[in-house]
Amino acid sequence: MSDHAFRITSSDNIRRGAEIEVTLNGNKIKGFEGETVATLMMAENMVAMRTTTEGQPRGIYCGMGVCFDCLVVVDDVANTRACMTWLKPGMKIETQAGLRAGEI
Ligand code: FES
Repeated sequence: MSDHAFRITSSDNIRRGAEIEVTLNGNKIKGFEGETVATLMMAENMVAMRTTTEGQPRGIYCGMGVCFDCLVVVDDVANTRACMTWLKPGMKIETQAGLRAGEI
């Protein structure tokens, strides 16, 4: 795991779940059980998780499943809310371009 601006370091005396590996935009990334997809992406300095149909970046806004600004593609399922989706080992996560109509 590299140096991440948004992840609290393990030296801060915090408890985490087991380390797991996922794929983020084709790159193998380490995360922890108990984290959401949004947590992992922010830890990877990826605050823009999708773009609008006009290409404007969007990311975490409400953090509780209401605004739908954090839509990503998880295991080939588009329009997945990153803030409401728990990380699982082997998960494939991709940023999303625009709204993928018909897949909600
Ligand atoms: S940040 Fe609002 S739904 Fe995910």
